[in-house]
Amino acid sequence: MAAKPEVKLAPSILSADFARLGEQVAEAANAGADYIHIDVMDGRFVPPITVGAQVVAAIRPWTGLPLDVHLMIETPQQQIEHFVRAGANIITVHIETCPDIEQVVQSIKDLGVKAGVSLNPDTPASAVSAILPSLDLVLVMTVNPGYGGQPFIESTLDKIADLRAELDEKGLAAELEVDGGINAEVAPRVVKAGARVLVAGAAVFGSGQTIAQALRELRESLL
Ligand code: DX5
Ligand code: ZN
Repeated sequence: MAAKPEVKLAPSILSADFARLGEQVAEAANAGADYIHIDVMDGRFVPPITVGAQVVAAIRPWTGLPLDVHLMIETPQQQIEHFVRAGANIITVHIETCPDIEQVVQSIKDLGVKAGVSLNPDTPASAVSAILPSLDLVLVMTVNPGYGGQPFIESTLDKIADLRAELDEKGLAAELEVDGGINAEVAPRVVKAGARVLVAGAAVFGSGQTIAQALRELRESLL
């Protein structure tokens, strides 16, 4: 049997207790999280408004883990530098918001951080084919972006598998991350399809368990 792939867990603070954000981030880091995923929403690309660069800066001293900033915002190029200065390590923009994705990805890299591109559930994998060789990360949305706690969209499994095949065939190193509806039941299935970084919000911060128990349950689902 093939060896189990290495999988990273990226708790999304969207479902954390915002009044205790620093402590919750530190708790997730101590419990073995690999990245801290921060969902930035502007009330335009998606209906809610969440957090900006100030909150990224406030979290920064609480963990040495990479801060994985997911920009669900229009015209992200205007904001990238603010998030890098705030301490982001990975900046992911949506392909749907970037008519000139090459330029946006280059500007992220020029600022010395990792560049990711995300696709909504209705956006085909082919939309990122041309930019794939330049990416550090590709993020497949497995729910429609905007809210935590939504159910996983099953039809995204094929897209995950297609992107895994494309990355492998072309020998590309971009990490394949999935985001939305990931829990202990879904996790082994997205990994089997080819995902290697799992974002989880409600399953980590809103499960009724401690953060450590929730992360352990996710890890154990992959054994
Ligand atoms: C959704 C966000 C996700 C969200 C995932 O728009 O991008 O990162 O926090 O939350 P869960 O894991 O609860 O679906
Ligand atoms: Zn996200």
